This record gives sequence, C-alpha cells and structure tokens, in this order.
Amino acid sequence: MNSQYLITLSFVLLTLVLPLSSATNSFESYDTKKFPALYVFGDSLIDCGNNNHLPSGGADYLPYGIDFMGGNKPTGRATNGKTVADFLAMHLGLPFVRPYLDLTNHQRNKISTGINYASGGSGILPDTNNVTSLTLDKQIKFFHSTVKHNLHKVFKEKEEIEMHLSESLFFVSTGVNDYFHNGTFRGNKNLALFLLNEFTLRIQRIYNLGARKFLVNNIPPAGCFPSKAIRARPRGKCDEKINKAISFYNRRLPEVLHELQSKLPGFSFVHADLFGFLKGVRETGKSYGIVETWKPCCPNTIYGDLKCHPNTVPCPNRDTHLFWDEHPTQIVNQIYAWLCFNEGTICKSWGLKLIYHA
Ligand SMILES: *[C@@H]1O[C@H](CO)[C@@H](O)[C@H](O)[C@H]1NC(C)=O
Ligand SMILES: *[C@@H]1O[C@H](CO)[C@@H](O)[C@H](O)[C@H]1NC(C)=O
Repeated sequence: MNSQYLITLSFVLLTLVLPLSSATNSFESYDTKKFPALYVFGDSLIDCGNNNHLPSGGADYLPYGIDFMGGNKPTGRATNGKTVADFLAMHLGLPFVRPYLDLTNHQRNKISTGINYASGGSGILPDTNNVTSLTLDKQIKFFHSTVKHNLHKVFKEKEEIEMHLSESLFFVSTGVNDYFHNGTFRGNKNLALFLLNEFTLRIQRIYNLGARKFLVNNIPPAGCFPSKAIRARPRGKCDEKINKAISFYNRRLPEVLHELQSKLPGFSFVHADLFGFLKGVRETGKSYGIVETWKPCCPNTIYGDLKCHPNTVPCPNRDTHLFWDEHPTQIVNQIYAWLCFNEGTICKSWGLKLIYHA
C-alpha cells in the first residue's frame, strides 16, 4: 500500500502547485457530464455549512476557511479549505455542492446539480448527537423532500427525475461519531454489526428514493485523531484499541455493499478506504511534505478541544500538517481526492466508473 502511495507522490506534488483552473481543465477530456449531480450525506468531514443553521453552530468563523477559495472565507467546512466533497465536485466538473439548510425553497426548486445534507457530529444511528446535528435519518428526510417537492419544479416528467437520480452520484461518509458517546469511545463487535445493519437500511432508503450510484467512505482511524493521540503513550501515537474496533466495521463494509449490489437492481458503488489513507499519510507523510502528522494546525486543538476557538492564529503553513483540528487539512483532502479519483489506489469500483486514470 505504501509503495503505491510513494509512486504517486511526485505527481501529486507536481499537480498541487498548478493553479486550480488548469487542474479542472485536465479533466475536460473525460466524460464528466456523466454525473449530472452530486448528493452528499454524512458528518463533519464533508459538512459545508448545514450546522451553521443549528443552535449548536458550525465552523463558520475564522480561522476555518482561511485557505478557502482565495482565503479568509469561513463557510462551515471543518477545515482550512476544501473538503473531499469539494474536490469530488471539481473532479466531476460540477459546481461546489450547496448545503441544504443554506437554500431557500425557491433555490431548491432550481438546483439540478446536487445538494449537501451532511452535518458535523452526525452518525448512522438516530441517537448519535441528535440534538446538535442532523441525523442521517433527518438528512434522508430532507433528500426525500427534495425528490418529492423540489425536483418536480426542475424536471417536467417523472421519468426525467428518475433518470436524473439514477445517473447522479451519492457520496456517503459517516459512522465515526457512533463510536463515541459523550466523547467516550464505546466500540465493540456487537456495535459494529449493529451499525452495519443500520447503515444498510439507510442506504437502501436512499436507493428506494431513486439513487443508484454510491461512493462510500469507510470509517477513519479515530484512534489517530489529535484528541486521542495526545493521550496515547507515547504521545502522538494512535490509540490502537479504538482503531481495532473501527477496523472490525471497516473489514465488513465492502461485503455489506456487495450484498446490497446483489439484492438491488442497478446498484453500483465505489468503496473508499479513508482509514487506510489516513494511516498511510501518517507513515509516509514526509514524502508528501506533511512533516507534522499528529499535532493539529489549530493550536488549541492540540490539547483535546475538538474545534478551533474563534480567531485563534493557526500554524503559518497548513500544507505541512496532517490535521487542521480534529479534521484533516485541505492538502490531505486533496491528496485523498487524487489517490481516489485519479490513481484508484485507495478506491475500488464495483460497476461504477468514477476513477479516471491520468
Ligand atoms: C435522541 O437521542 C436520545 C438518546 O441520546 C434518545 O433518547 C432519543 O429518543 C433520540 N431522539 C430521536 C428523535 O431519535
Ligand atoms: C454526558 O454528558 C452530559 C452533559 O454534558 C451529562 O449530563 C451526562 O451525565 C453525560 N453522560 C455520561 C454517561 O457520561
């Protein structure tokens, strides 16, 4: 795995210094119109502003967004710049996907390129942070409303809506927050099996509303998150007890997706190994220019705070850090996107053509 990462490395570094416009242009030779829309479900890795509308608040203040689109644009993204969902939209030739709660009903009646329902803190289960975030059930309820009420205004015929949904990409990244209760880790095999079953039921509900093409992240190595690494011995190491419990879920996730594929006509998917990717960056970080692989860039989050405090001064060079706060930096999201969508090293396709080899 690591040698593959290293081979791609020099190319990643070369492309990172190119202006973004030319990176987008390089995808034009592919049939990017294949996916008319991108719909996004999940947690803070890909929330782009939904939580700003909740009483608990989102990441809508500086230094969040300090590197977003020219700089100093906090949006609710829990990182210094773009998320993986942003890089995916760029890869598909689509505009950045807007957060559902940002949109008026009038705007929802006009959007045909996808909506982001993701919410920081949410998990698979209805009782995971259900006061402070939009649960996956709530996200699916909003998507249901999009299908039933808004897409009818965009498309005239029922068949057009069905076609639109069946060709669109559905990105789902969730599960890590279910492993924590009040910030305390609570993983065991029974929980993993329960989560996989509950996840399957919800993917099936999204399918029943018309979705066919899925990109699914596995669960990241939460034992390596800064709030856990600071307490590990020696400091900065991963808590492997946490990672082991999460691995139990992750090992079964591809099987569960295959079962769905054999059961549901037209179901296709790409499985992304977010866990393996983030562990890999820890090991081979230096070769990416990432020299700090456990201390987050936002200073107060080194000591276990989950979020940056407003207007704290972050590290001067974000591109040398793996973590921004509890979440990866933009550069890490960009490397993920490159390895998944262009190299195909961390992503595997099952009947879904999403990976365009350079
Ligand atoms: C929210 O979670 C609590 C437990 O944390 C649970 O008792 C309650 O039923 C949940 N509410 C909903 C609407 O699922
Ligand atoms: C969880 O946190 C809440 C509020 O912070 C507290 O009232 C409750 O006792 C905690 N529960 C557990 C099991 O630690």
